[in-house]
Amino acid sequence: MELINRPRRLRRNKILRDLVAENRIDPGKMIMPYFISEKGTHRMEVNSMPGIFRDPADTFPEIFKSDFDLGIDKIMLFGVVDHKDDKASMADHKDNPVIQVISKLKEQYGDKIFVATDICLCEYTSSGHCGLIKNQRIDNDSTLPRLAEMAIAHVHAGADCIGPSDMMDGRVGFIRDALEETGHPDTIILAYTAKYASSYYGPFRDAADSAPQFGDRKSYQMDFRNRREALKEMQLDLEEGADMVMVKPALAYLDVIHACRELSPVPVAAYNVSGEYTMVKLMAKAGAANEQDMVTENLTSIFRAGADIILTYHVRDILKNGWADV
Ligand code: PBG
Ligand code: ZN
Repeated sequence: MELINRPRRLRRNKILRDLVAENRIDPGKMIMPYFISEKGTHRMEVNSMPGIFRDPADTFPEIFKSDFDLGIDKIMLFGVVDHKDDKASMADHKDNPVIQVISKLKEQYGDKIFVATDICLCEYTSSGHCGLIKNQRIDNDSTLPRLAEMAIAHVHAGADCIGPSDMMDGRVGFIRDALEETGHPDTIILAYTAKYASSYYGPFRDAADSAPQFGDRKSYQMDFRNRREALKEMQLDLEEGADMVMVKPALAYLDVIHACRELSPVPVAAYNVSGEYTMVKLMAKAGAANEQDMVTENLTSIFRAGADIILTYHVRDILKNGWADV
């Protein structure tokens, strides 16, 4: 048999496969999310997310030290509070656990860590919705000033980057203006640009206690039937002053990551969300597949689709077990 083209030649052994590999997972391009609660002294494992915790604000800086020593230096913070009301009062309150933690971390680590925070009201509203309610609807325009107040409070505390994840129209521009007006021209905005209404956020809502108390998020988060709409969102976020754009979730949206990457002049992030993490953990626990293999396949695929940056709950496991080194 004469075959001139034999793609298997380059797959013959590991050393060759490593030589020709087009993509690798790079933990330096990953951001690890954390849930910070206002109460308690001990970390509490999230029921639906094995290996992920709610960490008390008081002890987080101490708890975080071992992660920092492992090499985790880019983080995204979410807050968990008891008091919720219709104005999301806790979002920018001085006792907010995220605000507390930002200043402590920045005092301790300065520019050795990159601190991003999630800007959204759902962790703080009694409705569990990402915006304020007016006439039984999630009201766009009255939500914008609250988001800006929340963002400014985080930036005052020392946040390097804020990530608006609410999906209200015009929020990137509104926050950008507020940052300029308050003398924060260098704050980075990582916009949750193409954030889809997804069932893969289920475990997160358990972790952050942020499930909507009525209805769903489909009147503000994107419809998963649409891709071109993501490009429209991206165009707006860029015009409004976003420094980086994000697609979320990641695995069921690789085509959207790819489409954004093709047209984006700025870095494209992808959020490998809670449900994607939990699926891997549950499959591994059931003995249905190897965890390391699933994690490397998933994250490599997200990079291959075009992501420059990945937010993922797997970072600690990757570094601890050296999964990126093989
Ligand atoms: C807040 C927010 C959510 C996530 C990130 N920011 C939840 C939601 O929109 O319901 C989800 C992250 C994850 O699932 O890991 N709006
Ligand atoms: Zn929200």
